[in-house]
Amino acid sequence: MTEIKINTKRRNGIINKNIYGQFAEHLGRCIYEGIYVEDDSIPNVNGMRCDVVNALRELDIPVLRWPGGCFADDYHWRDGIGDKDKRPYMVNTNWGGVVENNHFGTHEFFELCSQLGCEPYITGNVGSGTVQEMRDWIEYMTFDGDSPLANERRKNGHEEPFKLKYFGVGNENWGCGGNMRPEYYSDLYRRFATFIRNYGDEPIYKIGCGANAGDFSWTESVLKNAGAFMQGLSWHNYTYEGDWEHKGSSYAFDAAGWYSNLADVERMRDRLKKHIAVMDCFDPDGKIDLIVDEWGNWYDCMPGTNPGFLYQQNTMRDAVTGMVILHMFHEHCDRVQMANIAQMVNVLQAMVLTEGDKMVLTPTYHLFRMMKGHQDGEKADIVYDDERYESDGEMIPSVSVSASVKNGTLTVTAANTRLDCDRELSIELDAEYKTASAEILTAENMCDFNSFDEPDKVSPKPLDTKLEGRRLTVSLPRMSVVSLTLK
Ligand code: AHR
Repeated sequence: MTEIKINTKRRNGIINKNIYGQFAEHLGRCIYEGIYVEDDSIPNVNGMRCDVVNALRELDIPVLRWPGGCFADDYHWRDGIGDKDKRPYMVNTNWGGVVENNHFGTHEFFELCSQLGCEPYITGNVGSGTVQEMRDWIEYMTFDGDSPLANERRKNGHEEPFKLKYFGVGNENWGCGGNMRPEYYSDLYRRFATFIRNYGDEPIYKIGCGANAGDFSWTESVLKNAGAFMQGLSWHNYTYEGDWEHKGSSYAFDAAGWYSNLADVERMRDRLKKHIAVMDCFDPDGKIDLIVDEWGNWYDCMPGTNPGFLYQQNTMRDAVTGMVILHMFHEHCDRVQMANIAQMVNVLQAMVLTEGDKMVLTPTYHLFRMMKGHQDGEKADIVYDDERYESDGEMIPSVSVSASVKNGTLTVTAANTRLDCDRELSIELDAEYKTASAEILTAENMCDFNSFDEPDKVSPKPLDTKLEGRRLTVSLPRMSVVSLTLK
């Protein structure tokens, strides 16, 4: 039995809905095939697959990052506007060396965001682009007046300026984005960011390229040298069963692989705290947000698939680790104002997988749907017995719980990280609620996944709860995630 006390009178911060953001890169089958099709045998609206868009709309996606990733620093926006037949081809050197026809460009991205009902977040090219190219893109997208660039946008079919709030100044410029040193990037950031002008009513929120995983000196240097010119600083942290060299299989793993992945999540927690400590030191007033614009489990790609396409399966392990990580972002919601899981379709820890005209929802998709009640909720104070066990030198919580309140509704989500022991949650509430409903996601075997033949093998089910006065009891079986809604 795990005793939990929730104190909704003590609220500590707002869980920014943008923590539930997504990322879609020109990588493998994420954009082409996965989202955008030119073959009308797959039902689509303006090229966007209806099945995929309809499924994703259920997640209330707040923000979508595009066009990369590494692709962003190789992308020249002019190649992706105007008559599709005249758009130049290019080689996607980062991802499989395939030919990119640029048929999905700026206008198509805004169309996708409008169909999904989310905010666009665009990452610009610092690595191989110019300041002028970036400033022109901003003017093309956002200027309402009479200028050659704004008129070109109109000629290309969009009279009104696009609404763009979030703009990233380069991606991983310590690596694929130019192998820069932080001091050099900081100077480039200052220069590029200067020319990101505000043409519309809403100022553009500028995001600097942040560190990889545990590179705290990058965070320190960029904050020190360029922090005054940014609203957000990014951070990328992928989690593995093994390590970068031996990532592990996404669907054929043993108990040791389950737990070592969770141990890596704890290492991520430690790094997150340290990056925040650096931010607290260089930005004590908390003016700069931490934007975790790439996170998720990264495994070996599926046998027989293009290694440059990063296509992997998705199991209960992804749902459980996903919930622990999202709870970690809740915990630090004063600094973490956005996070974008990598990636939305067919790449890494995806929400949906497609094959031709078929689509399957992954356990991670179900997790995001089950947790959406937290979006913009006020984090409620929560106390529970944080019983831990050891794996790979890390102390892993057996149970991870988070609670938030929005418009009088209390949302509680909980994960049981153990493979061997069921739990009962006994929750002491500080108010009376009329109704309690619950959903559970679990599987018979830890490696189960949803395939095109068995699309509902791992899918959420309603769960019985017992609400007596101010006490709620609910079961949390081994390797499960649960979401509770109290009204
Ligand atoms: O998400 C896949 C890749 O991982 C991104 O393109 C890059 O930014 C990161 O290294």
